[in-house]
Amino acid sequence: MNRGLIIIPVLLFNPGLIQTGFAFEWDEDMRDQPSIKAQESQVNTNSGSVPQSGKETILPPADMSELVQARLSAGDLENPIAKSGESLNRGKVVYDIHCATCHGAQGHGDGKVGKKYVPDPMNLTIDYVQLQPDGQLFYTISHGSIAMPYYRDVIPIADRWHIVNYIKYVLSKPGTGNKP
Ligand code: HEC
Repeated sequence: MNRGLIIIPVLLFNPGLIQTGFAFEWDEDMRDQPSIKAQESQVNTNSGSVPQSGKETILPPADMSELVQARLSAGDLENPIAKSGESLNRGKVVYDIHCATCHGAQGHGDGKVGKKYVPDPMNLTIDYVQLQPDGQLFYTISHGSIAMPYYRDVIPIADRWHIVNYIKYVLSKPGTGNKP
């Protein structure tokens, strides 16, 4: 059969595939409508208002090549949250909620959703991840990656840094990365 006849219906019924190659929003679903949900505020925020958790310091990338470049530059960002028992505990809570589905409880890239994902979610315990500056990991969580969704609208800034600490100090393999 003509290959076009197969590809066109595949794209029509899987619009997500058209976006493949650039980060998308994780919680895109039919609940996201203009209607006001139970307990949702009707107060419009002022355009100049800043969330209590702080303003985004880096803007979302426009495309894939900008993402790669901006992620490298984000390596200069300083992690404002020191590694502490409290931070690692919080990091685990947020990691288990948002990341373990794909990256697995131990960070090996083998979460239940991850196993169905193409490409495979990254193993977060390997040197490629463990040796990245904190700011680069923060950037990936904030703005996503090639196929990974972004979390800037879902995870508050401080929690993103707690996850970075958790990846570096708990998920790393003993004897490598940052784990003693
Ligand atoms: C829906 C599945 C999914 C979820 C949920 C997910 N990821 Fe990913 N992640 C991926 C995939 C797939 C890749 C590898 C391909 C890519 O880079 O997009 C990846 C790559 C990464 C990378 C490596 C990026 C690089 O190349 O430098 C890091 C770091 C990472 N994820 C961290 C996280 C953290 C932290 C969370 C939770 C906040 C998370 N991911 C949630 C699917 C996911």
